[in-house]
Amino acid sequence: MSASEDNNSQEVSPEFAGEGIKTSSPEIDKKKQENGAGGPIILFFIIGLIASLIVGWIIFPKLLYSQKRQPIDFNHVIHVETVDEGCESCHFFREDGSFSGVPKLEQCIDCHEEAQGENPEEITLVEEYVAQGKEVPWLIYSKQPNCVFFSHAAHVKGAETECAACHGAIGESEHSRMYEENRLTGYSRDIWGKNIAGFKKNTWDRMKMDDCAKCHKEATDKKTSVQTEKDACFVCHK
Ligand code: HEC
Ligand code: HEC
Ligand code: HEC
Ligand code: HEC
Ligand code: HEC
Repeated sequence: MSASEDNNSQEVSPEFAGEGIKTSSPEIDKKKQENGAGGPIILFFIIGLIASLIVGWIIFPKLLYSQKRQPIDFNHVIHVETVDEGCESCHFFREDGSFSGVPKLEQCIDCHEEAQGENPEEITLVEEYVAQGKEVPWLIYSKQPNCVFFSHAAHVKGAETECAACHGAIGESEHSRMYEENRLTGYSRDIWGKNIAGFKKNTWDRMKMDDCAKCHKEATDKKTSVQTEKDACFVCHK
């Protein structure tokens, strides 16, 4: 490319030289300099691109989310083996159809009235919560904004959706994972998802409005969008 531009400039300069247009020759010099600098410019562009990707995809998400530890590190694997009714021993539907959500001390006290071993997490549970009759302030990974209405009964009983489809394999985890809170909105990172660029590999990677709406559209087989029907907003919003 630079060779052909150089040819052009050689052709042009004698033509205009006679007409006394002085500006042409400094311009040509400038162009030659620019052509010479093509390599470094591309390099600067690439460095700039990489730098902004690092800032946008790695540094920005780190700054945007604050990390919070659960008050107690909870092991799902040993408990699912120990209890009688699997997940439902702790996460069950009440008689009115509402979902119990994260368990209360009531579900722990039969086995943890006193510490059975020397596990420091169990000792924390007994000393700081059970002995003082204080509920454990668990952080809810999937917590939606207050304006959103969500019913487990409609999904788990009605539509027979697996817990993992929305929550991932939390039921098979040996440790509570870190809770990440968006510093701007105060919402949990599980709503936005881990991938700041918006890619989604699993159904549980993200639970934004569009993710709920997409499944509703597929599940109900309606031609129209759930979001443009009359009163459609009030399916999910209070
Ligand atoms: C002995 C009681 C117990 C049993 C049994 C149990 N869980 Fe849990 N579960 C908990 C506690 C306590 C928490 C809160 C701590 C945490 O998130 O790590 C929790 C949290 C969760 C959450 C996180 C919800 C959120 O958004 O924060 C999911 C999902 C979950 N459990 C699914 C399951 C599934 C699936 C099973 C069955 C395979 C199961 N649990 C069995 C006690 C239990
Ligand atoms: C059916 C009995 C049973 C129930 C109900 C139960 N646990 Fe446990 N829990 C155990 C056993 C057994 C162990 C493992 C033995 C040990 O650590 O001494 C254990 C261990 C633990 C530990 C230490 C290991 C770890 O890192 O998780 C914690 C913390 C704990 N349980 C919390 C809870 C909480 C919170 C609840 C109520 C939501 C609960 N447990 C309900 C039986 C139970
Ligand atoms: C269709 C998706 C979906 C399915 C299926 C689902 N959940 Fe949830 N779950 C959610 C959403 C969304 C929330 C947050 C609700 C809110 O903030 O009001 C939630 C909240 C929770 C919580 C925390 C509730 C609280 O505030 O204490 C627990 C625990 C939980 N789910 C466990 C389960 C278990 C166990 C199953 C399977 C029996 C299950 N979920 C199935 C989407 C789902
Ligand atoms: C995996 C698919 C799926 C996902 C994801 C999902 N839903 Fe649903 N939802 C359904 C199905 C299926 C029904 C039952 C539809 C029916 O009864 O017509 C339903 C029903 C509901 C209902 C009850 C409607 C009624 O008539 O009572 C509400 C509210 C709701 N969903 C909210 C949400 C919200 C909020 C989210 C996202 C946080 C969500 N759903 C994510 C499949 C899903
Ligand atoms: C299928 C369920 C569903 C439907 C239908 C739905 N929403 Fe939402 N909406 C959500 C969920 C879940 C969130 C929270 C997650 C997010 O921000 O994407 C949300 C968030 C929002 C927010 C941001 C609130 C906040 O505090 O951040 C607005 C505004 C909103 N919705 C407006 C609407 C309007 C207007 C409609 C009707 C055209 C509508 N929604 C229909 C599920 C739904």
